[in-house]
Amino acid sequence: MKFISKLPIPPTNALEHSHKLVSKIQKAIQQNNGSISFRRYMDMALYEKNLGYYVAGSRKIGKSGDFTTAPEISPLFSQCLANRCLEILQEKQSNILELGAGSGIMAVELMLELERELCLPEHYFILDLSPDLKQRQKETIEQLAPHLLHHFIWLDKLPESFKGVILANEVLDAMPIELFTIHNSNIYQHQVAWKEDQLVEQLNPAPEQLSRLIANLNINSSSPYTSEINLNLDGWFKSISEALSQGILILIDYGYTAKEYYHIDRNKGTLICHYQHRVTEFPLLYPGLQDITASVNFTAVAESADKADLQVVTYTTQAAFLASNNLEKFFIRRLEELPEDQYKLAQEVRTLSLPSEMGERFKVIILGKGVNEKLDPVSAQVDQRYKL
Ligand SMILES: C[S@@+](CC[C@H](N)C(=O)[O-])C[C@H]1O[C@@H](n2cnc3c(N)ncnc32)[C@H](O)[C@@H]1O
Repeated sequence: MKFISKLPIPPTNALEHSHKLVSKIQKAIQQNNGSISFRRYMDMALYEKNLGYYVAGSRKIGKSGDFTTAPEISPLFSQCLANRCLEILQEKQSNILELGAGSGIMAVELMLELERELCLPEHYFILDLSPDLKQRQKETIEQLAPHLLHHFIWLDKLPESFKGVILANEVLDAMPIELFTIHNSNIYQHQVAWKEDQLVEQLNPAPEQLSRLIANLNINSSSPYTSEINLNLDGWFKSISEALSQGILILIDYGYTAKEYYHIDRNKGTLICHYQHRVTEFPLLYPGLQDITASVNFTAVAESADKADLQVVTYTTQAAFLASNNLEKFFIRRLEELPEDQYKLAQEVRTLSLPSEMGERFKVIILGKGVNEKLDPVSAQVDQRYKL
């Protein structure tokens, strides 16, 4: 972790923006008898109308933002995803729906690859909680593939009936989580309060229902143990399953199985914040200006998906997923197109797939509804569902 003293001080207008959000949070705290759950705080810090990190105007994703994601690193990532979409898209009336499309670069690269394969879907739907990113996505498409713009449709809510592929890269990690600490067999919920003119974190005994869910995680630590639990998953998968009439859902994110997530040594949890490519552990700092994120518990994802009648088709590492979806072929093709970029391309492949980079920390889970599980014999070779 980098220390707080090394964080750049935000410019005055950004600080003013953050102060406005702090006032709103302070009001919510007052209206809730002096404290709000960390989950509510994180929701406001990221998504509060006109002020939250993802819904207000700063440039978040990419080299000039706060963090970089796989599709920003290399088009090879989106080309491999396109490869995985091919079979499903050959079915009549199948389209793509991307949730949380960021800068729009993945959408563009994916559609360009599908165009090359003569497998363009009629529609590429995008659903993002951020109106600001919507504009940026349009600009990216206009700049890189204006001839494909008419395929894109922006939605404000999930469609009533969708057939095809739903994609979400690094969306699960941006969901607000409950933060808890177990100490001497007592379970505490982290809350955010207002003291001496600032936001402070405090620990209160967890409400009964939350306590029960945390107790079920079977964490047996003799020293204080802090971690997170995502309570949004059941509702999220239920609404997605209601929208999906037939097809698959591909989710890519950093995270672990429950056993790894709640390992006794991971006693400080996984919550981190990003500000201008620096990592901090201070989520109450500059609300609205820094990203707050937690790793994904893929066992919980699989359980919620199962409850929502979505079948877990594949669970594997990003490295294995990319390798089984023609990473090498796409790399060689790009090398032939851009021989002078050999070093850069090799570096991109390393970042996407080395275990010490994104290759193993990032996982891919594929969920299906009404599809033949044997659809993807290549992924079957790298499948790690037994770990979930
Ligand atoms: C970390 S960014 C990832 C952006 C992009 N997928 C990428 O890989 O660069 C998270 C994105 O998810 C969006 N998001 C979070 N929760 C969402 C939800 N429930 N539905 C749709 N989008 C969501 C945010 O607005 C943001 O655009």
